Amino acid sequence: MSDAAETNALLFVCLGNICRSPLAEGVFLHLAHERGVAERFQVDSAGTGRWHVGERPDRRALAVARAHGVTLPGRARVVDPAADFERFDLLLPMDRENERTLLALGAPRDKVRLLRSFDPKAKAPLDVPDPYFGDGDGFERVYRMIERACAALLEALLAQTKAESGR
Ligand code: 4NP
Repeated sequence: MSDAAETNALLFVCLGNICRSPLAEGVFLHLAHERGVAERFQVDSAGTGRWHVGERPDRRALAVARAHGVTLPGRARVVDPAADFERFDLLLPMDRENERTLLALGAPRDKVRLLRSFDPKAKAPLDVPDPYFGDGDGFERVYRMIERACAALLEALLAQTKAESGR
């Protein structure tokens, strides 16, 4: 990555693209807006499974986002290896299963980073657990994990951009 402008296309990835990855997309954009740097990023999300293609996020994800003042854009889509692995600079799976799937689909190893690996306080395993089959509390817990990780990711990318522009 030679140019700072090339480093800011981010794809958040989970299984269904209706819970965790849309939350990560919405939270990251929200934080970037608050910092006044949203225009520097292209952000999207996708799933490795096809069950919910075309659907809006799960109502529990929408509710937890709304409670934190965050809007969730988009409808579920599946990862498109041919287009996404070229277009995005960072592929950010929510858990190790999605990480394995991305790699099996041919994602470049150096573009794939577990989202929570950016959170310095996160302990292994660095998964954002799947809240889909649990109760509503799971979504608040997952929201907090995603928010901490997205805040750290944003700071890391801004620091990298600054270092590159100062070269
Ligand atoms: P997500 O949650 O991967 O965070 O969007 C899930 C949504 C749906 C299913 C699994 C996980 N599902 O099996 O339908």
